[in-house]
Amino acid sequence: MQHMDAEIERLSGITRERALRIDEVNLYERLGEAAFAKLSTEFYRRVFNDELSWFRNIFKSSTIEEATQNQMEFFIQRLGGPPRYSERKGHPALIARHMKFNMSLKAAERWVEHMRAALAATGEIDADSAERMLDFFTHTAYFLHLGCTSRQGPRPVQSS
Ligand code: HEM
Repeated sequence: MQHMDAEIERLSGITRERALRIDEVNLYERLGEAAFAKLSTEFYRRVFNDELSWFRNIFKSSTIEEATQNQMEFFIQRLGGPPRYSERKGHPALIARHMKFNMSLKAAERWVEHMRAALAATGEIDADSAERMLDFFTHTAYFLHLGCTSRQGPRPVQSS
C-alpha cells in the first residue's frame, strides 16, 4: 500500500494528504446541489464530444444521461452529501467498476484534463473548492489507473 501511495504520488504529483483535503470542509454544503449537477454535465459533455475517438469510445456502453447521474451522485455522496449513489447502486467499488475499461495512463491524463476544464467552467465552484476537488480527482484517477492495470495484466499484442 505504501508502494502504491508512492507510485500514485509520482504519477499524479499529489500526496494522499493533499487529496484528502476534501474532508476538511463539507463541499456539498458549501457548494450546493446545483454546482454538482453543473460539474458532471460539463464534464460528460466534454467526454462524449471528445475529438479523440479512442477516449470517447471508452464510454460507448453508457448514455450521457446515466454517466452524468452516476458521477454526480457519487461526488455528492463522497463530498459530504446524502448517500444517493450507494442507495441506488451499492458500494462504489471503483476499481471493480472500472476493470472493463481502458484505464491506461493516457486515459487518466485525458480524464483529468476534461475535469479541470469542467471545474473551470462551473462558476458555482470557487477556487479553493476547485483546487481541493481537482487534487482528489487527480489522485483517484491515477489510483484507478494503477489499480486496474496491475490487475488487468498487459494488453495482448494486436494481430492486425
Ligand atoms: C482514469 C480515468 C477514468 C476513466 C477512463 C473512467 C471511465 C469510466 C467509464 C467508461 C464509466 C462508465 C460510465 C457510466 O456508465 O457511469 C465510469 C463510471 C464511473 N466513474 Fe470513472 N473513469 C475514470 C476515472 C474516474 C475517477 C477519477 C472517478 C472518481 C473520482 C471515477 C468515478 C466513476 C464513477 C462513480 C462511475 C460510475 C460507476 C457505476 O456506477 O457503474 N472515474 N468511468
